Amino acid sequence: MADKIRWGIISTARIGERAVIPAIQNSANGEVVAVGSRDLQRARAFAGKLGIPRAYGSYEALLEDPDIDAIYNPLPNDQHAEWSIKAAAAGKHVLCEKPLASDAVEAQEMVDAFKQHNRLLAEAFMYRFHPRTQRVLEMVQSGAVGDVHFISSAFTFAVSDEANIRLFGSMAGGGIMDVGCYAVGVMRFLTGEEPVAWSCFAHFNDRDADEFAAGALVFPSGVLGHFDCGLRTFRQDGYEIRGSTGRIVVENGFTPPKDRPTKIRHWQGDKYTEIEIPPVDQYQLMVEDFADALLNNRPPRFPAEDAVLAMRLMDGLRASARANQAQISAL
Ligand SMILES: NC(=O)c1ccc[n+]([C@@H]2O[C@H](COP(=O)([O-])OP(=O)(O)OC[C@H]3O[C@@H](n4cnc5c(N)ncnc54)[C@H](OP(=O)(O)O)[C@@H]3O)[C@@H](O)[C@H]2O)c1
Repeated sequence: MADKIRWGIISTARIGERAVIPAIQNSANGEVVAVGSRDLQRARAFAGKLGIPRAYGSYEALLEDPDIDAIYNPLPNDQHAEWSIKAAAAGKHVLCEKPLASDAVEAQEMVDAFKQHNRLLAEAFMYRFHPRTQRVLEMVQSGAVGDVHFISSAFTFAVSDEANIRLFGSMAGGGIMDVGCYAVGVMRFLTGEEPVAWSCFAHFNDRDADEFAAGALVFPSGVLGHFDCGLRTFRQDGYEIRGSTGRIVVENGFTPPKDRPTKIRHWQGDKYTEIEIPPVDQYQLMVEDFADALLNNRPPRFPAEDAVLAMRLMDGLRASARANQAQISAL
């Protein structure tokens, strides 16, 4: 392989345009060579707007391009597994959007298929690459809040377009899948543990997608997590850790701005400190890690096996929300 990974983009998704394609184009070790869409005109217009050299009118044609090393997959959640596995069979590595699949069974099938084809798969959870997230982890591990008792987190925003893929259960949408995955993901990240118990409550729309939800989790070390997430609620995005001697608050915890410093707010005893973290593009750090893993034949920072565990939790939360809803409806 050369010194740069050649990326193909599967679909004209908004997140590609807004964040991931510019991140690859600015990256030190990657370039975007092609985009594939279900519609050739759309692919051409998108390629023209973003300065992408090649445009294809089908996903199949994109996967057949021999000059592509890796695919970035931001398809609707229910198509992540299908097209990532097709890409692996076509010899491509894949950075797939979160959540990795529709459920844990599919996520495991993806991991197995990529092993079989000897290709690299990773999930595009960008906030884990931000130095602030890493700094919070180090602080928690070094006792900055004492013994951790609670992690609370929230990720909500209001979808305005009724055709948005997130509002359809049939596309593996819903708030738990779309943004709940961050809210509980940060708890797994900070504890390094899988929860042993959880419960979740949600409001579902008439398309079988949860629109806003809240839940609680118990981790083996005793940490209690609580979260809310949703697609119809005023924006909130962050997390807080409270322990026996202190508290850490991280605002815009999952989507920090890339053009100005961010903060960690820390209380311990009577002391309050604000730690400033210089701006970075966390998407760029993510795509550079993936490309570097390929170029140097090393594992990515966050292997896809972690995403299977994350999907198991998502399955559990969604099952709990449904069971609780059935119980409430029966009252
Ligand atoms: N990491 C992050 O920060 C972040 C942020 C937002 C979203 N995401 C993830 O990225 C993925 C895409 O989200 P998005 O908001 O960018 O979605 P979007 O704008 O709706 O794009 C999805 C794309 O999938 C293609 N597609 C194929 N079948 C489709 C169907 N039946 N209905 C609609 N689109 C279809 C379309 O491309 P063509 O028409 O060109 O084929 C469409 O542009 C999701 O998995 C989401 O969870 C991640």
